[in-house]
Amino acid sequence: MVQEFDKVGVVGLGTMGAGIVEVFARAGFRVTGVEIDDTALGRGRAHVEKSLAKAVAKGKLTEEEQSAILGRVTFSTERENLADADFVVEAVPERMDIKRDVFTDLDRICPPGTILATNTSSLSVTEIAALTSRADKVVGLHFFNPAPVMKLVEVVATVGTAPGTIELAGEVAKRIGKTPVTVGDRAGFVANALLVPYINDAIKAYEHKIASREEIDTTVTKSVGLPMGPLTLADLVGLDVCLAVMDVLWDEFRESRYVAAPLLRRMVAAGKLGRKSGQGFYDYSGAEEPAEEVPTGPIARAVRDGAHGFDLADLLIVPHIDDAVRMVGEGYATVEDADTAMRFGCGYPKGLIELLDERGADSVADVLKSLADAGFVQHTPAPLLAHLLRAGRTTLRTS
Ligand code: CAA
Repeated sequence: MVQEFDKVGVVGLGTMGAGIVEVFARAGFRVTGVEIDDTALGRGRAHVEKSLAKAVAKGKLTEEEQSAILGRVTFSTERENLADADFVVEAVPERMDIKRDVFTDLDRICPPGTILATNTSSLSVTEIAALTSRADKVVGLHFFNPAPVMKLVEVVATVGTAPGTIELAGEVAKRIGKTPVTVGDRAGFVANALLVPYINDAIKAYEHKIASREEIDTTVTKSVGLPMGPLTLADLVGLDVCLAVMDVLWDEFRESRYVAAPLLRRMVAAGKLGRKSGQGFYDYSGAEEPAEEVPTGPIARAVRDGAHGFDLADLLIVPHIDDAVRMVGEGYATVEDADTAMRFGCGYPKGLIELLDERGADSVADVLKSLADAGFVQHTPAPLLAHLLRAGRTTLRTS
């Protein structure tokens, strides 16, 4: 039972790991944050301290609360200090060789009852679990950026995770104020499998000069009310993370929808990773950015004028809705889980199935057909969408 333990370890104190330390310490857990060397440790500690100082400056936290929270955190470069941890979350870079090093160490250091959770967004939790002698106690605990703000945590259960481990991970997520959704170990889980192909579509639209980056971002925030445009969000998430997710989706499904935009791959190769590198689709170095030209080619004009039965918002959002219907139709996520994932993980005001129902399955299918006729999408509507139409229904939710 989660009430019976309070000692948590977090391995890797990058943006996500530091945010995870903060979330656990705020919820009253004693946390040991571990990094590889003093430089990385100093960066992680500064991240946590800065975030808490900001909350104090905004009047969201008192100075007493701030020092109580910091008093619960120990920073260390020694994994051995996790020998008495009840629950460890790993948030190291997304490379299997690094995960192997961490998990074999944790398996040796931590008592047999300790739950080992991974925050991976693009590697197989099943493969990570297989690195240990306790696959039944290994689970995914996937947070969303910024971790202190976004409410969703995907609890990723492999075929080998014990039911008690899944239950406990869900309880832990609730105790730190998050909304857990339990998902299977499939590429992209729920939220990234929906979000990242949509970001990739936006990158393709930008690359193919269908619209400027500002047009792409403001269209989505204004017309759908999403908190950020897809290119701004790609910069926040990290272009390397987006590419890694696209590549695992491609590896798993081998569908053209999951081919990474060439521009995404090139930007990652060039080290333009978004906010963390100071440059992505936008510049974060403080340098003056030259105004971008608005594309004026024939396709850009046709999309802007809605000449082919869809506009830029449709081009970006309708295939995104179709992906959610497909996922539900494949039995991988329930309607509720698909919508919770996008509302709580990505701050959408409405879930994608809610958007489908609001717009009508017939209208979504019409736009998809127009997009396919114009050569923008290659896939046919999700079988469940086609089924709704044949059944004469315009919504997926029955009530
Ligand atoms: N750390 C801590 N708190 C933060 C923060 C951070 N990095 N960034 C913002 N906040 C807090 C602010 O302090 C503020 O708190 P209060 O309301 O208590 O004052 C609140 O969040 C809102 O922030 P702002 O007013 O500065 O800015 P905003 O209203 O524009 O919101 C946002 C910023 C929360 C990031 C919002 O734009 C948003 O929800 N964007 C979508 C983010 C998203 O989709 N994340 C998921 C990406 S996918 C992923 O992460 C998974 C993966 O594996 C790739």
